Order: sequence, then C-alpha cells, then structure tokens
Amino acid sequence: MELAQLRQLFAEKFQQQPTVVTASPGRINLIGEHTDYNHGFVLPAAIQFKVCVLLAPNVTGSIRMYSASHQQSFETIGSAHLQASDLQWPNYILGVIEQLQKQHPVINGIDLLIAGDVPVGAGVSSSAALECATVFALNEHFNFGHSKLEMVQMAQAAENEFVGVKCGIMDQFASMFGKAGHVIKLDCDSLEYEYFPFDAAGLEIVLLDTQVKHSLASSEYNTRRKECETGFGILQSNFASVKTFRDVTEDMLQQCKDSMGEKVYNRCLYVVQENARLAAACDDLLANNLASFGQRMFGTHHGLSKLYEVSCAELDFIADACQQQPAVIGARMMGGGFGGCVIALVKAGEVDHLLAAIAPAYQQQFGVAMGVHRVAIGDGTRRIV
Ligand code: GLA
Repeated sequence: MELAQLRQLFAEKFQQQPTVVTASPGRINLIGEHTDYNHGFVLPAAIQFKVCVLLAPNVTGSIRMYSASHQQSFETIGSAHLQASDLQWPNYILGVIEQLQKQHPVINGIDLLIAGDVPVGAGVSSSAALECATVFALNEHFNFGHSKLEMVQMAQAAENEFVGVKCGIMDQFASMFGKAGHVIKLDCDSLEYEYFPFDAAGLEIVLLDTQVKHSLASSEYNTRRKECETGFGILQSNFASVKTFRDVTEDMLQQCKDSMGEKVYNRCLYVVQENARLAAACDDLLANNLASFGQRMFGTHHGLSKLYEVSCAELDFIADACQQQPAVIGARMMGGGFGGCVIALVKAGEVDHLLAAIAPAYQQQFGVAMGVHRVAIGDGTRRIV
C-alpha cells in the first residue's frame, strides 16, 4: 500500500491524521543461528520488506489499532494493565507500550495503523519489524530521546515478557540497525557491532519458503534455550575459565558429555561449532571467498537439523536439494526453525532455473507449492513522516 492510501485508511479508521509514520524491515541472517541467546555472534541484515506504523494520540484513553494486513481492529480497555490479545498481532504493540510505560506513564490514548509486506511466519521476523516500528514511532512522537540500542532492548523485552518468547536480540537489532549493502556482525555479548560490506554482485539472495508456519517454534525455542543453559551450567562448574560459550572447546564438551547426556551435549556442540563457523565465515567475506562462505552455510544447516533439531522435513528437503544444484553457493534453514524459509545464495541469473529444478519436486513431496522471496539488503528502522 502506498503512503497516501495508508493515510486515507488511518483517517477512515480514526477520524484524524497520523503525527508520525515509521517503517521497520524484516531481516535475514546469513550465518550464526541460535547463537544470539548463547552469547555468540550473528551476521544478519535488514531486507526490503517492511512494516509501517502510523500513529497519533487520541482522547479516549485507550489504545486503538487496525492491522491492514489482517483487516482486524483491536482496542484496549483503558491503557493501564494491558492484557494480551488472542489475535496475537496486537501483542507485539502492547508489549512495546508496556515497556515504554515503565518510564513514561504519559502514554495512554494512542491510535495505530499497521501495514506492511513482511511475510508472516516465514522466519524473517515480521514480529521484530512490528516492535521496532512501534517503539520508534512512539519515541519520535513523544520525543523520549531513547537511543536505537535502548529501543532494540525494549522491543526484545516486549517479546520476552509480554509475548512470552524468550528470543535473543538479533532480530530487533537487525531491524533497527540494518544498512543497505551491508551485513551486521553483532557480538551478542558486548553488543558491539560492525558493518561488513556484502557484495552481492553476481549473486542473488533467495528465500525458499516451505509455507510451514513455525507454530511449534515458540515452545521448542524456549526449550532449546533451557537445554543450552543446563549444558552451560555443567561446563561452568567443571571449568573455571568458562565465562561464556565462546570459551568452550569441543574437547571440554567431550569431557562433560556423560554428565550432560546426549541431547544437551548435542545442543552445546552445535553452539560451539556454530560460533567457530561464523568467525571463519567472516574471514571468508573479508577474503571475498563466497564459495567457502556458502559451504559453511550448508554446515550450519546440518548442525541445526541433526544436533540442534530445529529443522523439519520440508526445510531439509529444500536445503538438500539446493546442495545438489551447482547454481547454489550456500543454503540453510534460517531463523528459529520448524518451518519458514531456507536462505540460498544463488548465482545471478540462475534463480528461475533453480526453481524449475526444485519447486515441482517439493510440490510432489509435500502437496504444497514452495514460496519464493527474492531479497535485497536494505536500511533499518526509519521515520517516513
Ligand atoms: C528467532 C529469535 C532470534 C534468534 C533466532 C535463531 O528469530 O527471535 O533471537 O535466536 O530465532 O537464531
């Protein structure tokens, strides 16, 4: 939807004009999956798909919202003690407002319209995009003066506390700090970050969508997080030198294997290997060795599927099929898992050929059409109006 149409829709729904309009993108992640909440590194980038938030104060004392994507309205009763909604999408907004209200009780009556083109349930973080667009819009409207990092942390806290998904910081960080033409190497422990030019010349970044919505993801996600904490606790009680997962070697892990048990050991082994893979992948980028970078992506998929066990048959099918195609430099499942997309780096001009090779087989195997999103790396959260 164009901005003029969105303004018109806002006026229809709320009988006034928005004071602020923001846009915040979805994200991809090239490598470093399930490492953010394990104090590791990630390598995400913002993409061109975005969520827009239009906002204005109202005098009703309640928070009124309309989602153009869902064609649904939602309204709170008052604006204190916000209650979660069964509709789900309002919760990302309410969670952000709850975080801001801890410091700024001034937020009471607000009208919000949300719209956008970030595919939902595809693992590109439409939720983080919505949270970041909301916190940015409120920060602008009220002139709260929060830094981007503070807004990222509030958005993450909204998801952790209000929505109940104990996600790490990657998605909100990537959405807020994204920069066209660059990936972000983020140290999820110190929160230091570095932009790496990502020269996609000669390459296309394609998301191959299983069309499986990652509904299992939130409960299993929280379980993985707990398993890693259990494993890490055992490592720490055995090795005084271990401050974060980065200090853990495969040899140390091996020594703790019996006390951890197979499952927790495998989760930790994946994390240790993925941290090492990401460091090596950044060296590949600096050396402009994309072939080697891509091989590491296949390695990540294997680890996520066999050790971390967050893949599914559909993701494995697409990742395996990609590995057999010479046009694909690297591919792997992306995001939390249990559905969503495979991210593939494909030689420019070869995407149609790749799709012709994979899509019919996918349809035959699973009885659904594989979706495709061609992505470009774009800028982070911004004010439009
Ligand atoms: C989800 C979470 C992120 C991250 C990824 C897995 O997208 O929101 O914090 O943990 O899964 O890498």
